[in-house]
Amino acid sequence: MLRFETAGESHGECLVATLTGLPAGIPVSLETINHELWRRQQGYGRGGRMKIETDTVEIVSGVRHSKTIGSPIAMIIRNADWKNWTDVLPVEDIEGGEDKKKPVTRPRPGHADLAGAIKYDFHDARYILERASARETTARVAVGALAKTYLRQFGVEVLSHVIGVGPVRMERDATWDEIAALSQKKDVLLGCVDQETEARMKEAVDVAYRTGDTIGAIFEVRAHGVPVGLGSHITWDSRLDGRLAQAIVSMQAVKGVEVGCAEEQATSYGSKVQDTIHYDKAERRFFRGANKAGGLEGGMTNGSDLYVRGFLKPISTLRRPLESVDLETREASLAAYERSDVCVAPAAGVIGEAMVAIVLAQAFAEKFGGDSLRETKRNVDSYLLQVREF
Ligand SMILES: Cc1cc2nc3c(=O)[nH]c(=O)nc-3n(C[C@H](O)[C@H](O)[C@H](O)COP(=O)(O)O)c2cc1C
Repeated sequence: MLRFETAGESHGECLVATLTGLPAGIPVSLETINHELWRRQQGYGRGGRMKIETDTVEIVSGVRHSKTIGSPIAMIIRNADWKNWTDVLPVEDIEGGEDKKKPVTRPRPGHADLAGAIKYDFHDARYILERASARETTARVAVGALAKTYLRQFGVEVLSHVIGVGPVRMERDATWDEIAALSQKKDVLLGCVDQETEARMKEAVDVAYRTGDTIGAIFEVRAHGVPVGLGSHITWDSRLDGRLAQAIVSMQAVKGVEVGCAEEQATSYGSKVQDTIHYDKAERRFFRGANKAGGLEGGMTNGSDLYVRGFLKPISTLRRPLESVDLETREASLAAYERSDVCVAPAAGVIGEAMVAIVLAQAFAEKFGGDSLRETKRNVDSYLLQVREF
């Protein structure tokens, strides 16, 4: 079983991730992981934090001579901003520590502040937001980079693009090649493959900037080269669609998920939105008339490209703060403001890629097992032969 865990606070020393269960022999490149971390920091609409941090990973166990050795992989990503927070969030109490805190007593509607403060019994939401913050996803992206590397050994690639920002929606499907070209860009704007749509998306973000507001978005994650038969219909928790949905909605600010064209399917007649089945006798293979199911039927991959969409609510820290109540005085007051993002669309897409890659890698490891890459490859090849002979 492939398991991962993350630790770390937004303004703490570092973020930590462990990943257990990757077979030995997977090639690992720090540059590849760092490139994914860089991609997570890009995009129009990000706040000042992204200018402070240039995330780089340190691997402290599980990889030797650029290959996994089968033992748990532990990774650290240091927070450059920590130097400004050593007195605010010390591990051990310090002299005059009370005065050095930066308490957050005016909870932000939509953030974890109020529910977390009540639940964990703090009158300072600082300790809640430090962990609720999406800075945590830096660690997920590092794990996701390893999951992607594992999947790549078997020809599976995972990428994303942005299909909606506020009221602006991309009206056509993007091709895999367009999404692949987008992922190579050095200057990331809003992560949309269509320039004209992206320009309108930027205008929508500019309105949010001008008015001290924030704006929601929709990203789509695609996986290419996925073999038929990952996940299963047999139990509720082995269904891959359900596992992907959980992974995507577990992301901060993601409030909805769509597997394939769920919305279109729910508002259509069945005859219009099922992917008809055909057979190419010369090639001896099944193929589909369309891919509205997003590559998933009965909780299993069906061999078509997999796609899932994440629906992001607007960020809850507003420069023009909303009504709230002070936790100390219980007087009405405006919510706290701390340097914040206005739109996180392309970054969320990159995090979504990581989550999809992790879930796919888990399903892959379950199906094919193997303690070494060579063993897993043998198992995959023999299954693919069986599929071809079906
Ligand atoms: C990439 C990314 C960046 C984010 N940046 C911020 C931010 O700067 N300020 C903020 O208030 N929320 C930000 N969020 C969202 C909050 O972390 C999230 O709304 C909060 O933890 C409450 O969780 P919930 O929205 O999932 O209920 C970000 C989310 C993502 C995915």
